[in-house]
Amino acid sequence: MNRRHLLTGFILILTGLVPLCALSTPDEIHQSLELTPNIENGKKIYPLCAACHMKNGWGKKDGSFPVIAGQHRKVLIKQLADIRAMNRVNPTMYPFTDPESIGGVQAIADVTAYIASMDQDPTPGMGNSQQLELGKTIYRQRCMQCHGDNAQGNNDAYFPRLKGQHHAYLLRQLKWIRDGFRKNSNPAMVEQVKALSDTDLDAVADYLSRL
Ligand code: HEC
Ligand code: HEC
Repeated sequence: MNRRHLLTGFILILTGLVPLCALSTPDEIHQSLELTPNIENGKKIYPLCAACHMKNGWGKKDGSFPVIAGQHRKVLIKQLADIRAMNRVNPTMYPFTDPESIGGVQAIADVTAYIASMDQDPTPGMGNSQQLELGKTIYRQRCMQCHGDNAQGNNDAYFPRLKGQHHAYLLRQLKWIRDGFRKNSNPAMVEQVKALSDTDLDAVADYLSRL
């Protein structure tokens, strides 16, 4: 076999392996939900995440990195699992979602408990405040039934807290949810978001960032 054949063979093996990894069920993450978390240990693991999400878990106001501080623990665990299973595309963070890189299932249980216990960002990145009434109306009609009266989310139902998240991050996620790029989106939510224009999404994201 010459080198080109070898290379082709190698690439074929690789492309065969990728879907296998992508489909592996993140059992470790489910297991981590059953363990008793140790917040002190979580604090020691967190610096791995702080490189992007910052020491206080507030991310960046430009929305490149979301606020994770104060998010519900089950939501944090599920997002880690989804990102790792490539059910949510996040190539920047992917290497950090592997239980091996964090330090096993107990580490996931611990670090998520620490993040959930952190105070949320009181001054997240916001929009231009031009359409807050529109944002509120849309939220009440289409989103509140799941995300809650005050966008506080629901840990047991895995509904994320949206209040106080950066406007630019929310807007990017909403466009991805609407346009099918965020594969882990709840289908009933996609139905609600599909009907909305860019202006509507901007308005609802602005409203949520200010709650
Ligand atoms: C190299 C940068 C980077 C590191 C390190 C990193 N993240 Fe992230 N994380 C991101 C980016 C970027 C996003 C948003 C991706 C998007 O826009 O969908 C994100 C999103 C998330 C989300 C989803 C937030 C939401 O509201 O749905 C969670 C949870 C999260 N990260 C937790 C962690 C934890 C826990 C660690 C440490 C173990 C970590 N991240 C390390 C870059 C990083
Ligand atoms: C049927 C329940 C439901 C409805 C209605 C709903 N959502 Fe969601 N939403 C969810 C769930 C569940 C998730 C988490 C998806 C996942 O990752 O599994 C989510 C995730 C999100 C996220 C991503 C949060 C993050 O931190 O990355 C945003 C933003 C969002 N919803 C906004 C909205 C808005 C705005 C509306 C109304 C137009 C809405 N949702 C309506 C259930 C719902």
